[in-house]
Amino acid sequence: MYILGMETSCDETSVAVVRAEGNALKIEANIVASQIETHRLYGGVVPEIASRAHIEAITNITTEALGAAGITLKDIGAVAVTAFPGLIGALLVGVNFAKSFAYANDLPLVAVNHIKAHVAASYLGENPPKPPFLALVVSGGHTSLFDVTDYTDFHEIGATRDDAAGEAFDKIGRVIGLPYPGGAALDRLAREGNVGAIKLPSPALGGETLDLSFSGLKTAALNYINHCRQQGIEVPRADLAASFTDAVVEGLARKTEQALDQTGHSTLVMAGGVAANSHLRARLEALCKKRGVTFTVPPVSLCGDNGAMVAAAGYFEYRKGNFADVSLNASALDHIEA
Ligand code: KG4
Ligand code: ZN
Repeated sequence: MYILGMETSCDETSVAVVRAEGNALKIEANIVASQIETHRLYGGVVPEIASRAHIEAITNITTEALGAAGITLKDIGAVAVTAFPGLIGALLVGVNFAKSFAYANDLPLVAVNHIKAHVAASYLGENPPKPPFLALVVSGGHTSLFDVTDYTDFHEIGATRDDAAGEAFDKIGRVIGLPYPGGAALDRLAREGNVGAIKLPSPALGGETLDLSFSGLKTAALNYINHCRQQGIEVPRADLAASFTDAVVEGLARKTEQALDQTGHSTLVMAGGVAANSHLRARLEALCKKRGVTFTVPPVSLCGDNGAMVAAAGYFEYRKGNFADVSLNASALDHIEA
């Protein structure tokens, strides 16, 4: 069957067509219209501008996705849409469009959790993982470890207590003059720096907990930058990028290893925008190799927000019979309020 996936939770408008047969998923079209250039002027996402841009783009992008997949409306079996969490105004554009689209074409509607969708991006690759597994979701809004017991059943076993990893990357990137979002630019800059140059605290909390905290690391990096500026010293940007990235990567690796110990899972799936980070990919790959754990991470092109991952997650909700209807509402939170 063909599933249409729609994503408007933040600053990308995306619609995709995914073909599903059993557990095998194939992307037929995945159109992503990024608003990054628009938000860059402000150094971050402006919610009202995001909502308006989604409204302007979504109809054409849907038509484009159907055309690129070479299918027509009558070929579609279900419509999946990100309903939570995210920017509420942005989510509402996708949810209302998907509801109207499903109603007008008499199609089943499926509400998708954006975080589960990031993990579902891994089902679109070459060797798709099969639950149960441990999932590390690292994005601009979330940093969590999940015990994934089934395609649709996620149990959070660890999370950041404050900022998300991506948020921390973006903040440091902005302060040292990198364009928004700073994550990818910091990734490149870190390759030219010395990892041990600046001592920064670990975001991994001590002890048995699988939780992390990025605020202390972020503050320490900002203090270091301010100190340099006060002394009239040029901030060693590459060294800072390398040291900061190392602290994030080592902190995430430490809690992931503890989570593997605690759950006994033999597969690790990493997902979310920050999963594109080359240092983090290499570190977790090595960690899994050492432990004999299977490591899966989506290709970089599917780590950021996209409609294909929404279609993939929606397909498994559809198979479970988890349908939504025209009463569906969006939610900024990690769950839909009853
Ligand atoms: O998953 P995503 O597209 O949006 C959310 O659901 O939040 O994640 C966006 C985040 C941004 O913070 C961006 O800077 C970060 O992912 N990111 C990266 C890299 N590429 C994107 N962070 C570190 N290294 C990268 N290569
Ligand atoms: Zn996302």
